[in-house]
Amino acid sequence: MADTKGWGAKAASLYDGAYAARYRSHDDSLVDSAAYHAFVVWLQQVCGRWASPFDALDLGCGTGRYFCALRGVRALIGLDASADMLAEARHPLHQERITVDAITLVHGDLIEQYFGAGSFDLVYSIGVLAEHVPLQPALVASVARWLRPGGRFAFSTVHPESASVPQTLARRLGSSAGALLPAPLKHALRERLLAGGLYADEARLRELLEGPFTIVRDGQVHLTYAAAAVGPDYVTGVATASLDADLLDRASWRRRPDPALDSSTVPGEFGPGHVSFTEIDDELWMAYHAMPGRAPGPRHVGLRRVRFSPAGRLELGSATLTPAGGAS
Ligand SMILES: C[S@@+](CC[C@H](N)C(=O)[O-])C[C@H]1O[C@@H](n2cnc3c(N)ncnc32)[C@H](O)[C@@H]1O
Repeated sequence: MADTKGWGAKAASLYDGAYAARYRSHDDSLVDSAAYHAFVVWLQQVCGRWASPFDALDLGCGTGRYFCALRGVRALIGLDASADMLAEARHPLHQERITVDAITLVHGDLIEQYFGAGSFDLVYSIGVLAEHVPLQPALVASVARWLRPGGRFAFSTVHPESASVPQTLARRLGSSAGALLPAPLKHALRERLLAGGLYADEARLRELLEGPFTIVRDGQVHLTYAAAAVGPDYVTGVATASLDADLLDRASWRRRPDPALDSSTVPGEFGPGHVSFTEIDDELWMAYHAMPGRAPGPRHVGLRRVRFSPAGRLELGSATLTPAGGAS
């Protein structure tokens, strides 16, 4: 169950008036630092995926340090649990460079905050998740609900091996002992090392963000999913529903009886699955993985351009442009 107890209150008492004022003056001294610049460039790359104005949410916006980095944003909500940080965000760094049409600052705890479904195109968060607030499935599910189709969730986390985490002897022993332990102990140790979500490594992010993928086209939502055990029998299926239907009602969905992708789709690629999609220059691309042989082994990553048939069917077996290669 998600831990929802008092994270916002903790943040509010940490980021009090004195700390908020120091944080804001630190913003001014940061602008020439490589770390700040790297976040600005990253955020601008994220913003670059929308050709027309879009709406964004900054989770834990603090003093608004990154408002000036945003490009193409129509409406921005800056949410923070600290009223003192929000007071500083009223005169943020490089205010004269901010291009956002409208900024609304909201005082609240991001764990308990309500936004309607499909409220934003971009939700971003820097220096907050898996640091001040545990990164847990319930939060990821909330963000997914707040996003419009094709939306993005961009965030930083603290890695358990990063320099800011004290690498105590116990932590180092725990990290190296993990591989030797039986599964239940290994799991418990791993949770300890991730401090209940206050740190997140790549594996934790995969656990949280992996899952069925959806694409919306012409009033229909197409959901892809992988089925069967990892091996040559692994396949990818597609289920489709009308966007107007009740998507929580199983009767709204039509499941394609045959796999959309299996070991016969592309010669030499076995057990293809775990697909996700992105649009590049108006073309739909699928990222996936597959094994190079029938024997279970490392799966390789592939990229393929895919399309919808004139009848609106999602075709995943179109010509492979970049064959699966490179272990995943
Ligand atoms: C390190 S600061 C980062 C601020 C800003 N994102 C930045 O990069 O400068 C962390 C911010 O997260 C906010 N915060 C922490 N927990 C929160 C919560 N549960 N709900 C809303 N804001 C929270 C804090 O009040 C603080 O302003």
